Amino acid sequence: HAQPKPPAQKWSFSGPFGKFDEGQLQRGFKVFKEVCASCHSMSLVSFRNLAEPGGPGFSEKQIEALAAEYKIKDLDDKGEAIERNGRPADKFPAPFANALAAAAANGGVAPPDFSTLAKARTYERGFPWWVIDIFSQFQEQGPDYIHAILVGYEDAPKDFVMPAGGNYNKYFPGHVIAMPKPLTEGQVTYDDGAPQTLEQYSHDVAAFMMWAAEPHLVARKRLGFQVMIFLLVLSGLLYFTKKKVWSAVH
Ligand code: HEM
Repeated sequence: HAQPKPPAQKWSFSGPFGKFDEGQLQRGFKVFKEVCASCHSMSLVSFRNLAEPGGPGFSEKQIEALAAEYKIKDLDDKGEAIERNGRPADKFPAPFANALAAAAANGGVAPPDFSTLAKARTYERGFPWWVIDIFSQFQEQGPDYIHAILVGYEDAPKDFVMPAGGNYNKYFPGHVIAMPKPLTEGQVTYDDGAPQTLEQYSHDVAAFMMWAAEPHLVARKRLGFQVMIFLLVLSGLLYFTKKKVWSAVH
């Protein structure tokens, strides 16, 4: 069974001037919180990150309220284990105590942590694409792949031997994925009027995961562009300086 390539998607954050779409990140976070977070951790992200510039744009008040919805395991002054309400500086608590417990609850395969997943996953495009991709589509292969996985569940072909606990996915390498189809139409309620479709959910949560993996993308692109302008101006100045310094030599 041939391995189809994840189709390239349109992302607001692609290209040198790309930016995350706040509304999309907020919807993607809602999908993560209500669906994915029951199995997947996101241990490198703190609640407060969601209020930082270039991200989903939640207010500090919203983040305090969000953090308080979570119970955090901590130690009190005497070193006794306690559970307290979350604070903005806390990291997202994981749904399972450790990787073994996570694997045991998921048919032997621990769901990977979300913090860097959008950067950690990609797919082969082969020559000559990988050469061109470095300049253009390279950054988006992670979210393209995540979107493809989420929409790629199908019935297995008749002659396909499915191991117990496996699910058929068109885009997962080898087609047998331990994750059951996580998203269906209408599952998450959006309050901004965006379509509640599988396509939309998959785009939104993939964009959110891209932000989680690269929260400073917008600032990095802006600085990168400014550096290019600076280097261009500097090259011009150096050229005229050189002309002047060497003008007496014939
Ligand atoms: C793996 C996304 C919900 C269990 C993965 C992978 C992604 C992903 C991108 C990595 C695939 C790879 O390694 O290439 C999501 C998203 C979710 C979601 C966006 C929410 C919309 C869930 C839920 C469960 C789950 C609810 C548990 C019922 C797993 C497991 C794996 C996995 C067990 C490992 C699969 C394997 O390696 O065979 N998920 N997931 N996921 N997920 Fe999820």
